[in-house]
Amino acid sequence: MCGIVGYIGKRDVAPLLLEGLQRLEYRGYDSAGIAVQTRGSGLKSVKAKGRVRDLEAKLPKRFAGTAGIAHTRWATHGAPNDVNAHPHLDPEGKVAVVHNGIIDNASDLRAKLAADGVELVSETDTEVLAHLVARAQADTLEGRVQEALRHIDGTYGIAVLHADFPDRIVVARNGSPVVLGIGEHEMLVASDVAALVSHTRQVVTLNDGEMATIKADDYRTYTTEGSRTSTSPETVEWAAESYDMGGHDTYMHKEISEQADSVDRVLRGRIDDRFATVHLGGLNMDAREARGVRRVKILGCGSAYHAGMIGAQLIEEVARIPADAEPASEFRYRNAVVDPDCLYIAVSQSGETYDTLAAVQELKRKGARVLGVVNVVGSAIARETDGGVYVHAGPEVCVVSTKCFTNTAVAFALLALHLGRIRDLSVADGKRLIAGLRRLPEQIAEILDGEEAIRRLAAEYAQARSMMFVGRVRGYPVAREASLKLKEVSYIHAEAYPASELKHGPLALIEPAVPTVAILPDDELLEKNRATLEEIKARHGRILAVAHAEQEKADHTIVVPRNEVELDPILMGLPLQLLAYHTALCLDRDIDKPRNLAKSVTVE
Ligand code: AGP
Repeated sequence: MCGIVGYIGKRDVAPLLLEGLQRLEYRGYDSAGIAVQTRGSGLKSVKAKGRVRDLEAKLPKRFAGTAGIAHTRWATHGAPNDVNAHPHLDPEGKVAVVHNGIIDNASDLRAKLAADGVELVSETDTEVLAHLVARAQADTLEGRVQEALRHIDGTYGIAVLHADFPDRIVVARNGSPVVLGIGEHEMLVASDVAALVSHTRQVVTLNDGEMATIKADDYRTYTTEGSRTSTSPETVEWAAESYDMGGHDTYMHKEISEQADSVDRVLRGRIDDRFATVHLGGLNMDAREARGVRRVKILGCGSAYHAGMIGAQLIEEVARIPADAEPASEFRYRNAVVDPDCLYIAVSQSGETYDTLAAVQELKRKGARVLGVVNVVGSAIARETDGGVYVHAGPEVCVVSTKCFTNTAVAFALLALHLGRIRDLSVADGKRLIAGLRRLPEQIAEILDGEEAIRRLAAEYAQARSMMFVGRVRGYPVAREASLKLKEVSYIHAEAYPASELKHGPLALIEPAVPTVAILPDDELLEKNRATLEEIKARHGRILAVAHAEQEKADHTIVVPRNEVELDPILMGLPLQLLAYHTALCLDRDIDKPRNLAKSVTVE
């Protein structure tokens, strides 16, 4: 997704803004630009198609300034090129605007401006903002931005520079994140804390409908209507170095490798051995309210949805509450009947996915109770929900989700245990699951130690035209997520099916050129799953099995240590993250920034 960075203070602004853009590169983009408030000669702006390094190469020698804004653009309206890149300026070059989001009424506004004799030079929706601010009549920059925003329908996170107001940057948020960074005699603004933490960990997250004026030594927040708001600073949980690659070649490899530690973090301080349960302080739901829950519906997109599938399985199996998961991107459009006795749970690593946020807002509008299972503290979904569980995976920079997926699945195991022990789950089962949870970090480390063998397997399968992933019940969400991992990072087509569904059609696809990855937990369905291997073998299909013991019917088996049967799915997905990673490496893919994808999809 697009990225915004802004700075005002005593230091030379351009290098700071470029470093901030580099921190946001992981979000995916196709052009970049910068505008600075020079000392005495107004605004200067440079824009470039391509990477931040291409923008840096274009900067003139003299590009000094003490205030500035910069942007990485992921093209929505208009091709990726220099003209469409942000910042957008008015014809006199006095106003510069960077924008994340989508202006729904952009074409009407463009037509009105053109009819008024304004020459629009780009194909973007954002350009209209620069013209509207330049044409506003208010005396203050704040007033001019408010005037401009009154014309706008849609979502925005914006930062505005004006040559006539060199001592400030004005920002606004509606549906697209804007975070202020509070420094010593300097202020920063960004769309993601990743761009701020190397300068400060004191941040103020704007709410929708909120604006801010930032100056070198001051900031104030207010609504788009102008009334003051008081948003107290928070301390960012993650230090700057946690955004570094830490000696790995890619963020994906780093984040896969971190999972023993990240799972240890999501467990930390939450286990109660005395009552064989867990404490989840952020639920904002006491035992009596929790007992009143008759159903659970989990909503998320992509990997978050798949983690929700594991969560639904765990909650139904451990807490004996009917539970299911559904893509938030579908739920938000289907005018769902909201069940007052149902607990809705929104899952999101970034906490900013628009489809999931919209589903939460739809549910809240209908009076539902909604929890969030989220990684980024203070994100939009975390703030929109009635409470929830932070997954504490640390910053996940790679577009492809790995450690957040695993931490989210573990967070659901904790929630299932919590709900189960409020109901009828026995002390013995509570203790058994707690012991299993505590074994996860060491077992994860053991699986990751087997990376070399998985790298060799990836080389064997990297030329496949397509791959099938199959699993039953506990294994099916693992198959779904592994299929997505392979697709999004290696670009190999892959499909996931419930193993029992193969004979109802997909079996026609099985042939030597289309290998199958089969998930075989050692549970009550193991023999059924072994029969599936026979079905595939009889059609000359190659099989890579993920199991707790060698499978003689499979061409290759990745053996995974046993945990508790409810928790095994959490472990069985890990080697398939490595399989996807090494397959992509064999194919020389852009692993951290796969084509066409963005880390956080904050637009429709
Ligand atoms: C996962 O590998 C993908 N990058 C994508 O499916 C992602 O999980 C999805 O967009 C949801 O993102 P979120 O968890 O930040 O809401």
